[in-house]
Amino acid sequence: MTTLQQAEAADHAQIEELGRLVIVKSVIYTSGERDPRAPLPRPPDQGKRYLMGHDPRLPRMPDKPTLFDFFRYRFGPAAHMLQSARLAQKNGTSDKIVLACLLHDIATSGFIRADHGYWAAQLVEPYVDAEVSFAIRYHQVLRFYPDESVGYRYPDSYVRLFGPDFKPEPYVERAYQHARRHKWYMSARLLTVNDLYAFDPNVPVELDEFTDVVGRHFRQPEEGLGFDESPSAHMWRTIMWPTRYL
Ligand SMILES: [Fe+2]
Ligand SMILES: [Fe+2]
Repeated sequence: MTTLQQAEAADHAQIEELGRLVIVKSVIYTSGERDPRAPLPRPPDQGKRYLMGHDPRLPRMPDKPTLFDFFRYRFGPAAHMLQSARLAQKNGTSDKIVLACLLHDIATSGFIRADHGYWAAQLVEPYVDAEVSFAIRYHQVLRFYPDESVGYRYPDSYVRLFGPDFKPEPYVERAYQHARRHKWYMSARLLTVNDLYAFDPNVPVELDEFTDVVGRHFRQPEEGLGFDESPSAHMWRTIMWPTRYL
């Protein structure tokens, strides 16, 4: 078989597999677009099976996926995180801050946007130093509060995105006060300082640039992310198999 024939055969097999499956979305993906309390309208399944593993519409992941596999196969374009990590490196921050920059928005690029700092911190918590997950968790709230001592101003983009009158909720204010008094405040703050918003889409940064930093500071589980029974393993599995029925 030629390469083209192989590709066509694979396409055909995929279409056939899709025809045999019912694939539904979790409530969280559609809540708001529809009232989550209402029953899900569902066409008759005609005896088809419900998807319980790999979604044939997605690239297959290795059996023991690494952090970089998630970057490659499940996360959206990572230029923002990569460029932030490179900037942190250029500014002479520690490896931990570079790693925090590299990972800080993985929730928005691959999981859930709302409270993205908290989700990202939880995802990586079992695998990184507590200072790294602290920085990731609190960058979300610190972004709203200036700190002149390090030249951090409220982002102009937030005024555009949320309007000039936007006020963070009280839980954000409380989290800010907590972070402000914490011994790792400056770690989280340095993440916000290097968290590039006006990033240049034409500056290529490859993941490989951070292989060493990740190797030194991210405890990649031997079984693969998702299969190591850590407190966040299920979250990695959900990213890998987002449409599993159960
Ligand atoms: Fe962020
Ligand atoms: Fe960011």
